[in-house]
Amino acid sequence: MKVLDAKFVQGFIRMCNDGWEQGWHERNGGNLSYRMKPEETESVKEELRTDGEWREIGTSVPNLAGQYFLVTGSGKYFRNVILDPEDSIAIVELDEKGERYRICWGLVNGGKPTSELPSHLMNHEVKMLASGGKHRVIYHAHTTNVIALTFVLPLKDEIFTRELWEMATECPVVFPDGVGVVGWMVPGGRDIAVATSELMKQYDVAIWAHHGMFASGEDFDLTFGLMHTVEKAAEILVKQLSMCPRKLQTITARNFRDLAVDFHVTLPEKFLYEKE
Ligand code: 13P
Ligand code: ZN
Repeated sequence: MKVLDAKFVQGFIRMCNDGWEQGWHERNGGNLSYRMKPEETESVKEELRTDGEWREIGTSVPNLAGQYFLVTGSGKYFRNVILDPEDSIAIVELDEKGERYRICWGLVNGGKPTSELPSHLMNHEVKMLASGGKHRVIYHAHTTNVIALTFVLPLKDEIFTRELWEMATECPVVFPDGVGVVGWMVPGGRDIAVATSELMKQYDVAIWAHHGMFASGEDFDLTFGLMHTVEKAAEILVKQLSMCPRKLQTITARNFRDLAVDFHVTLPEKFLYEKE
């Protein structure tokens, strides 16, 4: 099969375009990666090159050795993915140690995978192990309202999670484990990848202060939906803070406990503190 005819590739392209339409991908902002299933790799094998040059990832992901990933290219614009996928995205293979990659398909006009490849792969490794292999998608977006909140809320997991949960009743059902927050760091390297993947052991969402968000999920729908839900809660919070910084009423800790029972979710106690 041709790569562009594969369902997972079409799902990937659609998700890039959905993110563009949400306004989360100015210029080359944001990146997406998908950990391919062995049968998906097999199905497009006829188009995969094996003569690509091996390059350093910049970190080590031994548990992902030999796996294939579909990723966006560095400096590529999400708005162009749907028009010219072969220029904008790539399939890469990792070596037997999980320290180097080579391009097997795509990026036909040159270039390399996203500069956030270390963060994507370290997150994939953590989430693959934590989910028993179910998680396959890592998504980084420059979500406007979440970014705005990182200037006005303390950069603490407990505060971001609780404030976002309060903004929509479904939030604790969609992200019951909460969200983690990374203080400002230089993007694109191993240090921010280590800090983010450490949070991903507990959470499916990590916020990068003054930069954006990372989300992890089993498939494109769940991962896009997660990003969308968190960003929408952030939008409501921005509106609420703008209209009236002090809430007149909200969803209380007791309400969350009742919700957890009826919706069969476990909400960590650290987010259910009493407020004054
Ligand atoms: P890339 O173009 O290298 O993917 O970088 C975009 C980005 O959002 C960096 O954090
Ligand atoms: Zn970014």
